[in-house]
Parts: sequence; C-alpha cells; structure tokens
Amino acid sequence: MTQYRIAPSILSADFARLGEEVRNVIAAGADLIHFDVMDNHYVPNLTVGPLVCQAIRPHVSVPIDVHLMVKPVDRIIPDFAKAGADIITFHPEGSEHIDRSLQLIRDHGCKAGLVFNPATPLHCLEHVMDKLDIILLMSVNPGFGGQAFIPHTLEKVKQVRRMIDASGRDIMLEVDGGIKAANIAEVARAGADTFVAGSAIFSQPDYHAAIAQMRAELAKV
Ligand code: DX5
Ligand code: ZN
Repeated sequence: MTQYRIAPSILSADFARLGEEVRNVIAAGADLIHFDVMDNHYVPNLTVGPLVCQAIRPHVSVPIDVHLMVKPVDRIIPDFAKAGADIITFHPEGSEHIDRSLQLIRDHGCKAGLVFNPATPLHCLEHVMDKLDIILLMSVNPGFGGQAFIPHTLEKVKQVRRMIDASGRDIMLEVDGGIKAANIAEVARAGADTFVAGSAIFSQPDYHAAIAQMRAELAKV
C-alpha cells in the first residue's frame, strides 16, 4: 500500500508567526514541511533563505523539504544543508550541470531531487535516475501560492510514475500547486505519493480538519 505524505507549504503561512505555524501544522498531521525558496530571478517572487530555514529547524520535528526556485543553485545548496534541510530539490533550468548539483546535495547528506514545471520536458531524468530520491512535478507555474491546478499535469504524473516503477528505485513522486481535498485523490490515482498544499491548508481555520479531509480522500484511492 502506498504511503501518502502531505507537505504543507509555508508560502501561505503567517510569516510573522512562522515557528508557531510550523508547530501547529505538524501537530495537525503534516508529514513534511515544504519550504519554498524564490529569488526574483528564476521566478518573479522573493521569499526566504537559509537563515529562516535554520530559525524554524528547532520547531520542526519532520523532514524539511526545500524547494529551490533559484538560479544558479550550487552556491546556496551547502547553506541549506547546514541550515537543516533534509530534502533539497531544484529545477534543471537552475543548474548548468545537473548531475553535479544533485551530487552536491547528496555529498551534504540530504536527499536530492529535480523539479519540472508544467511545460519542462523530462528528458534529463533518464540520465540521473540513480541520483534521485524525489521527483517533484509542478502543477502550476512556480512563483505564487493559490493558483489553479493545471489538469494536463496529470499525464506527466502518470508518465513519471511509469519511469520510477521501471527503475525499481525508491523515489518519491511529489506534486506541487493547486492541490486541495477536491483533487488530491485524482493526483494520487495518477501515481503521486507526496502532496504539497499551501493555501488549501493555511487558509483554513483548522489545519487538523484540512489535513484530515485530504487523508480521507486519499483513503478512497
Ligand atoms: C509555487 C510553490 C508552491 C506553492 C503551492 O511556486 O512552489 O509550493 O506554495 O501553493 P498552493 O498549494 O496554494 O498552490
Ligand atoms: Zn513548492
């Protein structure tokens, strides 16, 4: 049976109370904390860096899943590893040498992954499958929370699920953008096992109820 993971994205949390927000969402059942890093260069928005990751680390009892939407990536990878990241993913467009960046993440003791935008082709995957612990598929264009799920992403999820199964490797398949209780089961049926959700959790008054509703949908898959 697939082990499903729910990864609340802090992008929609109250940044003035971030420690409390992550403690609350973990108490509500989060499996990972998804940490969105934006640089106003690779994506048209600016968020937080390693200092904030380090600041929340003592409040977080689950893995921190750092999603780098930055270009270039290599300079900042060691800083996030030292700041307590457990997983680090980046977009292939953010690195001149994808294999080297993946190895850099692994050399720093973190799980490594690649992120693909809705229109980014998957061809580099076949060359680096042995260096991947996670593949993250964007179901919105990166840069903002609260956008609508792009339906054609589901085909890509199915395609990557087939590639992972054929590899025989234990690689997480995470989907990010526009996930909510109303569509999470469909995304799981396409083959995802890890679900990022920002606005669908942090906009709700009761985080426990929001996560429980998602798990109830996943139980039907
Ligand atoms: C978008 C980020 C997402 C975002 C998801 O660039 O990578 O993690 O926070 O937000 P929702 O769940 O609101 O679409
Ligand atoms: Zn993200």
